[in-house]
Amino acid sequence: MTDDVSRNERIKEASHYLRGTLAEGLGDEITGAIVEGDQQLVKFHGMYLQDDRDLRPERTRKKMEKAFAFMIRVRVPGGVLSAQQWLALDEVARTYANGTMRLTTRQTVQLHGIIKSNLKATMRAIDAALLNSIAACGDVNRNVMCNVNPEQSSAHAAALDLARAISDHLTPRTPAYREIWLDGERIAGGEDEVVEPIYGKTYLPRKFKIVVAVPPSNDVDVFAHDLGFIAILGDSGEVAGWNVTAGGGMGMSHGEPDTYPRTADLLGFCATEDAVAIAEAVVTVQRDWGDRKNRKHARLKYTIEDRGLDYFCAEVVRRAGVLLEPARPFTFTATGDRYGWSEGSGGRAHLTLFVQNGRLADRAGAAQLSTLRAIAQIADAELRITPNQNLMVANIPADRQTEIHWIAKEAGLLAPWSGLRRNAVACVALPTCGLALAESERYLPALLDALDERLAAHGLSADDIVIRMTGCPNGCARPYLAEIGLVGKGPGRYNLYLGAAFDGARLNKLFAEDLDHEAIVAALDPIFAAYAAGREKGERFGDFTIRAGFVAATGSGRDFHANVRARAAAPPPQ
Ligand code: HEM
Ligand code: SF4
Repeated sequence: MTDDVSRNERIKEASHYLRGTLAEGLGDEITGAIVEGDQQLVKFHGMYLQDDRDLRPERTRKKMEKAFAFMIRVRVPGGVLSAQQWLALDEVARTYANGTMRLTTRQTVQLHGIIKSNLKATMRAIDAALLNSIAACGDVNRNVMCNVNPEQSSAHAAALDLARAISDHLTPRTPAYREIWLDGERIAGGEDEVVEPIYGKTYLPRKFKIVVAVPPSNDVDVFAHDLGFIAILGDSGEVAGWNVTAGGGMGMSHGEPDTYPRTADLLGFCATEDAVAIAEAVVTVQRDWGDRKNRKHARLKYTIEDRGLDYFCAEVVRRAGVLLEPARPFTFTATGDRYGWSEGSGGRAHLTLFVQNGRLADRAGAAQLSTLRAIAQIADAELRITPNQNLMVANIPADRQTEIHWIAKEAGLLAPWSGLRRNAVACVALPTCGLALAESERYLPALLDALDERLAAHGLSADDIVIRMTGCPNGCARPYLAEIGLVGKGPGRYNLYLGAAFDGARLNKLFAEDLDHEAIVAALDPIFAAYAAGREKGERFGDFTIRAGFVAATGSGRDFHANVRARAAAPPPQ
């Protein structure tokens, strides 16, 4: 390996297939943390070392170590869990984590606040439920997402089959995971092609994200991901094959215009039997061509920008050994979830619940975590985490439906009336995320209260408008594909982005910078008023903000930073 690669590359290479000194570090009782190199490696095992940032000032004053704890992200391909698996995670959340479960925008469950001495017991409990967390974070293929589909069950089954097949194929093979967490036998490392036939010693240059979509729903946000498969349905609703997309990604850094979010390109159409080979080929091209010197330029989106789409595509086809046909027509209508009841087969039905920002806890007045435990116990149903941090209870038998409806309603889990809140997503941010510059999950509900009041004044309460917030520009809640995107800039301050497409196909554009709460409301209120007064029939809020000249349309990732007319917010009304 040459000298000019990034530090992370050296850590990976020296790690002996993700072992590092993790096993030793776990036994060190002097600190609640682990050493720097292992902090990078532990991500590949599905966890982040974090500390409670609320407690930092007090602990610094008292000269105490930071309040370290781990976040574990479980791998849940397609977001589908059995009732038993849900109950096992619920138990882990209560016993070892902070008593909450966090449903994520990539259809996984995050458990926060697990101290080092409880890690192994937690991992064993997860393993006993036939789940794992390998590659849930790190420079590897992450959780494969899949459309949560209450209405087209055969297409959902095909999409889930594909998501699981890709997930299995691209899961790291290193024995380090079992060895470290589950006390497996140490197996000597062999040659690259034996231990990690797809990844090799240094895995990928950066994270890699794959999704499977079923039109007309774009709930998985296919254009936000490195690789996507869009189901093309035949006349009788069965899947005829897949359009392939590549090169989407969200992350960027403030003040660095060489970094930008990008929507994926369409590569072509493939048959179901070729999809895994295409996925592997895209991954290996990125493994070999991706930038290993500069992590801010290491995602597939930059590889495609630098090499050109045609050149990239030709290499994928060559490696996969299959031809891609021209992409076939498809139509997406929305990225949101279809809340409420929908009919399944054999008298069963599905219920999509609303979970504010994906956080399930037992709070005064709404014991949502316990309610879901009760639902999982009663229904013996399947639970599907949606890409919008919500939860669908699938295949509920007829004789349980009324009971489940009422207990879900009681716990505040049915969809709210506000069209903005129904389409709102926030990343975790403070207090756990070390990268957060501003609040997100803890603040968005209050902002929605204020915005809902303005929307009501303009008669827009029931209109579906997509709003997403993150505490930093990394983009975990996909804010650059929201009609209203808010990205943390510093404590209590956000950049405001407008103009994304409701179907997830067009990025938004910076509208105003560094806004505090009052300034966000003051900036949006006149735009809501203009929308209420001047929209055309069926015109979406994001499209309107472009037509009315509030922002220019973003054509592709490269021009995300172009034609910005950002300004300070309008002064608050006198
Ligand atoms: C450079 C880019 C990124 C970095 C360094 C990063 C890092 C992190 C960290 C540290 C967390 C843990 C926060 C916590 O739970 O306390 C997190 C959460 C998460 N990230 Fe990222 N992230 C990045 C970009 C993205 C992108 C682009 C996506 C999705 C398209 C994403 C998806 C998620 C999800 C789903 C969560 C879980 C919480 C949620 O639902 O918001 N991340 N990320
Ligand atoms: S967007 Fe930033 S603040 Fe939010 S979870 Fe991701 S890394 Fe943390």
